[in-house]
Amino acid sequence: MLAGKHVALYVSGGIAAYKAAYLVRDLIRQGAQVRVVETTGAQAFVTPLTFQTLSKHAVYTDRFAQLAPDEVAHIELADWTEIALVAPATADLIAKMAHGIADDFASTALLATTAVKFVAPAMNVHMWENPATQRNVTTLKGDGVHIIEPDTGFLAEGYSGKGRFPEPEQIVALLRAKLLAQDTDLLLHGQQVLVTAGGTRERLDPVRYLTNDSSGKMGYALAQAAQNLGAQVTLISAPTALPVPVGVTYVGVDSAAAMRAALLQRYATAQLVIMAAAVADFRPATVADNKIKKTTADYTLALTKNPDILAELGQQKQQQFLIGFAAETQHLLANAQQKLVTKKVDMIVANDVSQAQVGFDHDTNAVTVLQPQQAPQQLPLASKQVIAQQILQLAIKAQAARAN
Ligand SMILES: Cc1cc2nc3c(=O)[nH]c(=O)nc-3n(C[C@H](O)[C@H](O)[C@H](O)COP(=O)(O)O)c2cc1C
Repeated sequence: MLAGKHVALYVSGGIAAYKAAYLVRDLIRQGAQVRVVETTGAQAFVTPLTFQTLSKHAVYTDRFAQLAPDEVAHIELADWTEIALVAPATADLIAKMAHGIADDFASTALLATTAVKFVAPAMNVHMWENPATQRNVTTLKGDGVHIIEPDTGFLAEGYSGKGRFPEPEQIVALLRAKLLAQDTDLLLHGQQVLVTAGGTRERLDPVRYLTNDSSGKMGYALAQAAQNLGAQVTLISAPTALPVPVGVTYVGVDSAAAMRAALLQRYATAQLVIMAAAVADFRPATVADNKIKKTTADYTLALTKNPDILAELGQQKQQQFLIGFAAETQHLLANAQQKLVTKKVDMIVANDVSQAQVGFDHDTNAVTVLQPQQAPQQLPLASKQVIAQQILQLAIKAQAARAN
């Protein structure tokens, strides 16, 4: 996504300026062409030589020092730029940008560029929370500038608060996600995609729950693959140990009931809904307020049936393309075929979880895709990322056929 893109990185005078060196490296790794601007403040923290060496281009520092006699440096850079990234952005540079001040190279070139702008503020928590800074950030947002929210955590001052510079790879991932969402050529551009993932937890008492072996890997791979195709993705996930793909809207849930509520709230506006979560069929009939005590006698647990979310979504289906997953250990195709018909879904992805390297917790999967009036399609053993891409390609094809 960033390959070949012209990125102008504006580094201003904060303690996080050293992290901008890693940012240059990460951007170049993604194939971007990077040119660096440093404010006078930034040069007190990291010398231009560092950025020049990493970016293989002279660093812009002085508005009146022209690199070439036949062009005006700040205008040439402004016109060259496809993405302007201010990182770290000081309170001072944010204030200048918000007020259209152009009194050094960075602020002048930023005022002159029409490129998409990303600003990653980094500062002391009190500077960040100061109403003046917040006003300026609001102004920039209103001007269409993308603000990369600072992290909360340990600050250079020795205490915790909001204002930390996010990790460079996090910034690059965010940039990539934003660019993907804006690329109108991508096949899922403009589509709202809902993906569920993970195994639900059905509580028994304050310290115990029933769950299953689902790791969430298939759902997370689908969420990432849909984002790569330009979709606006919401991932409704039961607890997992996986990192949430940057740029994906994450909704954390625990039980089947919570997952159902989160889905129903967002279903009406979705175009593509992928139910990859392992939703519990049953939940304990009662949830004890206190930890259930050990007894000498056997304990019988009464279970109540959970609502069938997939069937419910099938009933309510309008424009949505609905994909269900069927994990079976026997009679795979017969059970999946039945699910396809009775639950009114558009596609069932069936996996035989009794096979080696397939299904729960594995990094690989092998599935059979069932669609109405079509012969079953085998997707042989591959990484879950590859299987996710193949499932989406089939869904896009089916959506296109439906539209014609
Ligand atoms: C040691 C030190 C650390 C600083 N760290 C920050 C910072 O993290 N964020 C910030 O907004 N300002 C910080 N400042 C204040 C800025 O350097 C100061 O506002 C400067 O005028 C910013 O200039 P510039 O925006 O042109 O780079 C720091 C100053 C010093 C001396």
